[in-house]
Amino acid sequence: MGFEAYAARSHEKMQDVLMHPDADGPRIHYYMIRGGSKKRNITIWETGTIGGEYIKTYGHYHVGGLDETYWILEGEGIALLQKRAEENGEPQADIIEEFRAVPVKAGESVYMPPGYGHLLVNTGPTWFVTADDSPVEGPDDSASMPGHADYEPVKQMRGFAYYVVEEKGAPILVPNPRYKEVRHTDFGGLSVRA
Ligand SMILES: [Fe+2]
Repeated sequence: MGFEAYAARSHEKMQDVLMHPDADGPRIHYYMIRGGSKKRNITIWETGTIGGEYIKTYGHYHVGGLDETYWILEGEGIALLQKRAEENGEPQADIIEEFRAVPVKAGESVYMPPGYGHLLVNTGPTWFVTADDSPVEGPDDSASMPGHADYEPVKQMRGFAYYVVEEKGAPILVPNPRYKEVRHTDFGGLSVRA
């Protein structure tokens, strides 16, 4: 036995963080093969939208000062990064100090600095495929929900501060009304629904 490198994120699990959790979606939203920081982790996103929202990863914050790089191997998408504001040294799930949307495509990479929660969205017609260097090291770690990642604040807010939604065939950003405040933004050229 030992470490099972493969995991898949189901529609049921993703309903935690979807803009429209009751909308129909594929049984599996994305597939993960975990090689850890040395062999790399591979993620493959399904295509399409769910209630208008493009297929995305669940999103998480790292535990501790860990950073991460994603290399885009196939397709096109958008990386969302957000850093929580701190009050009395405690990160606030519903107050975002800085939000960034970064359009990315095959051949490019995107850096997730320490402290920035992150997710990626497939906005293209093909599978979106990435490699990343986050530590998912067997035999005791979970390929599906690794120990270095904190998913709870994202679950609590039902997603990030903005959803990436298809409008007339192109991606736009739609604010998540559960967030109290987003202080600084860089939308990467995307428009935002008022
Ligand atoms: Fe990560």
